[in-house]
This record gives sequence, C-alpha cells and structure tokens, in this order.
Amino acid sequence: MRVRVVTLAVGLLAGGGDAAAFHEKGVANCNGCHVTHGGESSGALVGPSADRGMLIAESATDVCLVCHARRSGSVLGTDPRVPPPETGPGNFVFLTEDNLNDAPGGALKPIPGDAAGHNVVAPGHGLRADPRHARAPGGTFPSSKLGCTSCHDPHGNASFRMLYGAGPVMDGVALFSREAPDAEGPEVGTGPESARHHTAYLGGMSDWCGNCHGQYHQAGSGSAFKHPVDRALGAQVSRRYAEYEGDAHPVGGVETRAYLPQVPFEDRASTTSSTSGPGPSSRVMCLSCHRAHATSSPAAGRWDFKVAFLSDDGRASGSYPIPNPYGGSTQGPLCSKCHETPTGPAKAGPPGLPADFRPPTR
Ligand code: HEC
Ligand code: HEC
Ligand code: HEC
Ligand code: HEC
Ligand code: HEC
Ligand code: HEC
Repeated sequence: MRVRVVTLAVGLLAGGGDAAAFHEKGVANCNGCHVTHGGESSGALVGPSADRGMLIAESATDVCLVCHARRSGSVLGTDPRVPPPETGPGNFVFLTEDNLNDAPGGALKPIPGDAAGHNVVAPGHGLRADPRHARAPGGTFPSSKLGCTSCHDPHGNASFRMLYGAGPVMDGVALFSREAPDAEGPEVGTGPESARHHTAYLGGMSDWCGNCHGQYHQAGSGSAFKHPVDRALGAQVSRRYAEYEGDAHPVGGVETRAYLPQVPFEDRASTTSSTSGPGPSSRVMCLSCHRAHATSSPAAGRWDFKVAFLSDDGRASGSYPIPNPYGGSTQGPLCSKCHETPTGPAKAGPPGLPADFRPPTR
C-alpha cells in the first residue's frame, strides 16, 4: 500500500470551515474533503491509497455530495417526483427515475433515468455510469470516469462555477482545449430560477461543452438531430423570441419582458436579473435546449423533447412534469420560442430521426 503524504503551506489552511462560504473560488480547507493526519493543522494528508485520493468519502463525487446533495444547491435531492427547486444546471435526482418516456406508448417503452443527463459516478450515493453511452457522444470522454470533478475543479479557480478551462482534467483523463464559459450565476442556495433570477450566459458555453462533445448536432457529429449550436439568432429569430408569449399569445410579448429562463440564449449584456429578450447578435447554444446536470426529460432537455403538448409531460412515464411556463393544455414544445410552429400535435419527424422524436415543423 502506498501512502501519500503532502506537506502544505500553512497559509492554505486558514479559514474555510464556515458553512456559508466554503470554496470562495479558491482551494478550500483541505479537511472539508481530505482526511488529514493528526487534526486540522498538522499539514499532512494521509489516506489508505493513492487512488482513493485520501478523500473523506468513497469517490471524488461522493465527497462533493456530502455537502451538495441536499444543501448548498441541493444538486441531488432525494425524490425524483419531488425535486429540489429548479436552478440553472437542473438536478441529478432524475437519474434515479425508472422511466422518462412521455412519447405516446412511453409507459410500455421505458427510457431509464440514465438518459436524464450526466451520470456522475458516485457509488456511495448509488449513482452509476451510464450503460447507454461508453463515451461522451461526439467525443471520447469515458463515461466510467464522469463525476463532479470532470467539469468542476475541486481545488477551485476563478471561472464561472469553478469550471475547468483549457488543460488536463482529472489527472489526465482528458485534455480540455477550450476555456471555461463566460457566465454569471446567482449565489448558490438563493432560491429557484425565475425570469429575474437566473444564470446569465455571456459567451463560450458551446465551445466548453465541445471539450467533451465536439460540435454536437453538426453534420458528422453522429447526431441524427441537426441544429446550429453556436449561431447568432439574426433579426427574424430574435424578433420571434421577443414577441412569443406561448401558443395562446404568439405575438403578444414585448422585448423588455421577453426573457424565458427555460429557453436562454447567450449575450454579453445579460445579467442574472435581466428580463430582456435577445438581439440579433445573441446566440443559440447548448444550454438553450439542455441543462448541464440533468432534468426529467431524456437528453437533459430543458423541456421534454418527446411530447407534442407540454401537458403530456409526465403522463405516460409517471416522471416529474417540467412546469409549463405558459400554462394551458395545448401549449407545444418550447422550440416555438425561436421558431414559428403550428399549435396542435407536432408532425412526424423527417426520416432519419428516432421514430418517437417529434420535432415541430417550422
Ligand atoms: C472541495 C473538495 C476539496 C478540497 C477542499 C481540497 N481537495 Fe484536494 N482533492 C479533491 C478531490 C476530489 C481530489 C481527487 C482528484 C480529482 O477528482 O480531480 C483531490 C486531489 C488532491 C491531491 C492529489 C493530486 C491531484 O491534484 O489530483 C492532492 C495532493 C490534494 N488534493 C491536496 C489538497 C490540499 C493540500 C488541499 C487544501 C489546501 C485540498 N486538496 C483541498 C478535493 C478537494
Ligand atoms: C464541506 C462542504 C462542501 C464540500 C465537501 C464541497 N462543497 Fe462546493 N460548496 C459548498 C458551499 C457552502 C458552497 C456555497 C458558497 C461557496 O461558494 O463557497 C459551495 C459552492 C460550490 C459551487 C458554486 C461556486 C460558485 O462559484 O458559485 C460549486 C461549483 C461547487 N461548490 C462544487 C463542488 C465540488 C465539485 C465539490 C467536490 C470536489 C464540492 N463543491 C465540495 C460546500 C462544499
Ligand atoms: C467532462 C466531459 C463532459 C463535458 C464537459 C460535458 N459532457 Fe455531456 N456527456 C459526457 C459524457 C461522458 C456523456 C455520456 C454519459 C452520460 O450520458 O452520462 C455525456 C452525455 C451528455 C448528454 C446525453 C445525456 C443522456 O444520458 O442521454 C447530453 C445532452 C450532454 N452530455 C450535454 C452536455 C452539455 C450541454 C454540456 C455543456 C454544458 C456537456 N454535455 C458537457 C461528458 C461531458
Ligand atoms: C458535465 C459537466 C458537469 C458535471 C459532471 C457537474 N457539473 Fe455542476 N455545473 C456544471 C455547469 C455547466 C454549471 C452551470 C449551469 C448553469 O447555470 O446553467 C454547474 C452548476 C453547478 C452548481 C451551481 C448550482 C446552482 O444552483 O446554480 C453547483 C453547486 C454544482 N454545479 C455542483 C456540482 C456537483 C456537486 C456535481 C457532482 C455531483 C456536479 N456539479 C457535476 C457542469 C457540471
Ligand atoms: C435547438 C436545441 C438544441 C441545441 C441548441 C442543442 N441540442 Fe443537444 N439535443 C437536442 C434534442 C432535441 C436532442 C434529442 C435528439 C434525439 O432524440 O435524437 C438532443 C440530444 C443531445 C445529446 C444526446 C444524444 C444521445 O444519443 O443520447 C447530446 C449528447 C447533446 N444533445 C449534446 C448537445 C451539445 C453538446 C450541444 C451544444 C454543442 C447541444 N446538444 C445543443 C436539442 C438541442
Ligand atoms: C434559442 C433559439 C432557438 C431554439 C430554442 C431553437 N432553435 Fe432552431 N434555430 C435557431 C437558429 C438561430 C437557427 C439558425 C437560423 C435559422 O435557420 O433560422 C435555427 C435553425 C433551425 C433549423 C434549421 C436547421 C438547418 O440546418 O438549417 C431547424 C430544423 C430548427 N432550428 C429546429 C429546431 C427545433 C426542432 C427546436 C427545438 C428542439 C429548435 N429549433 C429550437 C434558434 C433556435
């Protein structure tokens, strides 16, 4: 057995134990995550073996979940039918669902919770690697290694949510080529997402996801669904976004109140409380349609990609219905925020798409 002992600079040990603030964008108190030899200030990390990383829990992700599962953002929660309040990244609790399929006949063709998003591997919390994908679709990152510290730097950095920038992650499991995204978020634990309290996406998100997924949905990426992923909206789409207030009021909206946190866009002028719609140079990006952790829709959709009416969400599968921001029983999918779509059941998709994927026509 190899025991690793790490000697610390004394300054690094100061502060950190406070529950209100832990990382403060820097390396926090080592004791929060590591077993240290001989108490808080001995300056030595010890552990059973190098590969266990001298951590206080079974895996790196289990360590993060000690604090983050049910507080400090409640990223896991306990019951997928009664999830914690929605925030920017969505919630990992949906990985524990037995069925997410709300397409017609979905009760008989279950899609397991593994499809809800990123399967972080945390044996101590019963979370396993996604058996459906050996690697990140469009890329090479191995699903067996996916955890909190594949995306977030456990030792802190100045990036948005301590996300990794260019360089090696997880001791060389992957080499990121793109910088961390430019964004700002509400302070963790300050309540659910709303039109006045939301992540402000400024730039670079699609590139960052591309560290593991390439330019997904582009030709050659392996995706049957093709869509621009990092493209200025242009005059027509940004006007549509501003006017659209649900299928019942497709041109009733005004630009200054058009922002819909369920369908965000990237813009350098966004703030965490901005309610304005996009301009022609605002961009559609990965998180316009997905959330970064998980949701109760297959493929971590911000809304359920498989239903024709949002009111069908949760019906066939019994999973948590994502709240319909516009209400009404005939509201269609939120692609309509950017594209003109007929109300009513969506038409069957063109050949090449999965049989039960039902995009609205434009
Ligand atoms: C928020 C939790 C957290 C805190 C606080 C933390 N670490 Fe870590 N540390 C980890 C995790 C998790 C790993 C395992 C590597 C990974 O998953 O990227 C790790 C790995 C390490 C390693 C192994 C080499 C490496 O970088 O992978 C060393 C050495 C280390 N930490 C030292 C420290 C020291 C010294 C402190 C305090 C100054 C500290 N850590 C604070 C979570 C933390
Ligand atoms: C000892 C408890 C504790 C542990 C362990 C812990 N965190 Fe945190 N974390 C917090 C608290 C408290 C906050 C909110 C205040 C802050 O940012 O310090 C937070 C905030 C965060 C944020 C948001 C930071 C921001 O810029 O807004 C991220 C991301 C995060 N933690 C990731 C992790 C990851 C990844 C791990 C595991 C390597 C981890 N945390 C382990 C307590 C913890
Ligand atoms: C560190 C690498 C990494 C990064 C960064 C990353 N992903 Fe992933 N992603 C994966 C892996 C590995 C899988 C396959 C395993 C799984 O689905 O849990 C995956 C799966 C997915 C899935 C399919 C989920 C499912 O189960 O069907 C979606 C959607 C997705 N990623 C979107 C994103 C978006 C959007 C971003 C940027 C916010 C992103 N990913 C960033 C590694 C990554
Ligand atoms: C695939 C990459 C990825 C993985 C894996 C991942 N995160 Fe995140 N996380 C993100 C991104 C991106 C955001 C910002 C999302 C947004 O605001 O739209 C985020 C946001 C957060 C936040 C802020 C929450 C809030 O209320 O806004 C916390 C805390 C956090 N992550 C902790 C974790 C923990 C703990 C784990 C592991 C259990 C984890 N993350 C795994 C990418 C990831
Ligand atoms: C316009 C909306 C939209 C945007 C933007 C978007 N996606 Fe998707 N994504 C979807 C839809 C819809 C599906 C489900 C398609 C299907 O069932 O074939 C999906 C599925 C996925 C999957 C799951 C594939 C699988 O087989 O499980 C991954 C991974 C993914 N997207 C990654 C990304 C990444 C990375 C980006 C940014 C580069 C991105 N998406 C941007 C709508 C979008
Ligand atoms: C945030 C705005 C936004 C959302 C949400 C959005 N799109 Fe798009 N979409 C765009 C932009 C911008 C383009 C490129 C400009 C154009 O063709 O009008 C585009 C183009 C397209 C195209 C043409 C693709 C091509 O290669 O020419 C299709 C089809 C499409 N979108 C379908 C969808 C579907 C289906 C959804 C929901 C799953 C969706 N869009 C959600 C902004 C969006």
